[in-house]
Amino acid sequence: AKITFNHADGLVDVLDVEPGTSVMRAAVTGGVPGIVGECGGQAMCATCHVYVRQEHLGMLPEIGDDEEEMLDCTVAERTSRSRLGCQITLGEGLGELEVDVPESQV
Ligand code: FES
Repeated sequence: AKITFNHADGLVDVLDVEPGTSVMRAAVTGGVPGIVGECGGQAMCATCHVYVRQEHLGMLPEIGDDEEEMLDCTVAERTSRSRLGCQITLGEGLGELEVDVPESQV
């Protein structure tokens, strides 16, 4: 599966990941800057906040209760494209994803 990370400074990271990999895990292990993943993927820190590109929004699972709560705690402003990167897993039905990385997570 392929994930494209667009950074605020215009740089772009493109990663090839195994199905079953979350956006947060992909970024952290792939050395993509701007995604922290402090809580390790428990939907408890909001430092994996990403803005999902419009064309992929409809392909994502519903926002869970924990995610909903943490999305109100993001450092960068929450928008209709905001999701937690640890709650989005690449793979079946989502072979490709493009996100914008917020300028700051902490
Ligand atoms: Fe902590 Fe996603 S890694 S909320």
